[in-house]
Amino acid sequence: MSSIAVIGGGKIGEALIAGLIAGGTNPKNIHVTNRSANRSQYLREKYEVVTFDENGPAVDGVDVVFVCVKPQAVLKVVDEIAEVIDNNDATTVVSMAAGITTAAIEEVLAAGSSVIRVMPNTPMLVGKGMSAVAPGRFAKDEHVDKIVELLDMVGSVCVVSESDMDAVTALAGSSPAYLFLFTEAMIDAGVNLGFTSEASRLLAVNAFYGAAAMLKETGKHPQALRADVSSPGGSTIAAIRVLEEAGIRAAVYNATEACARRSKELGS
Ligand SMILES: NC(=O)c1ccc[n+]([C@@H]2O[C@H](COP(=O)([O-])OP(=O)(O)OC[C@H]3O[C@@H](n4cnc5c(N)ncnc54)[C@H](OP(=O)(O)O)[C@@H]3O)[C@@H](O)[C@H]2O)c1
Repeated sequence: MSSIAVIGGGKIGEALIAGLIAGGTNPKNIHVTNRSANRSQYLREKYEVVTFDENGPAVDGVDVVFVCVKPQAVLKVVDEIAEVIDNNDATTVVSMAAGITTAAIEEVLAAGSSVIRVMPNTPMLVGKGMSAVAPGRFAKDEHVDKIVELLDMVGSVCVVSESDMDAVTALAGSSPAYLFLFTEAMIDAGVNLGFTSEASRLLAVNAFYGAAAMLKETGKHPQALRADVSSPGGSTIAAIRVLEEAGIRAAVYNATEACARRSKELGS
């Protein structure tokens, strides 16, 4: 079984820890660091992982280091752990940060180090993440396979080339927020139709949850599923018409382009 270090047990780090443990990883094989002792204590008590005060000792001898800090802190953290990693060429360094390239990380480590970039998303917390994996120059197939196997425990995984990562951010890394926004609007719309906020939330959340499950489990194209609920001249198609007239498709094209553009800017 792989031994793992998670540097930064914040939202994504915790989602990863929770998913790995739910997938059968022994928490004692997961080393975790944070800046604040409080956060480490919380993770230790909740998940029984092993916490460290410093990053260097946490990565000593592990197979995989997941760097889950904010993008601006990634290279500093990699620099801190470089000496330990350089002495163990079996370790793969995985960055979960938006925008930071594998080349930038490779530059901080000894030549030939195995580096992999991953774009995760927060549904990982409930074992339903969507992660895209982009291997760096020196990551071998066996390294990529190991990371795919670990991320498979916390949702779905695909391997992409690094040049696609900004687009992946727009489609999967950030897209849960689009659905959350849509759900928020639905809850307010329900209140407008006379429901309490609580009743409206129950209706909207469970309707979307069921619809998302259908998309995944039936394997049907969304267009076909939509056609199934849009009777000719009926109420659903009346709502669809309003959404189309409001420019929902154009908004999706523009929003994803803006997201990919911003991801690229943040990385440069
Ligand atoms: N959130 C998302 O939906 C999402 C999606 C895709 C990718 N990502 C990527 O995931 C990464 C983490 O994002 P997040 O939302 O999880 O951030 P976050 O909640 O702010 O978590 C960052 C964690 O890093 C810890 N940390 C900061 N500096 C550290 C250091 N020098 N050594 C050890 N730990 C350190 C923080 O500890 P303290 O709390 O103690 O300060 C905190 O636990 C980012 O690079 C982001 O681009 C996030």
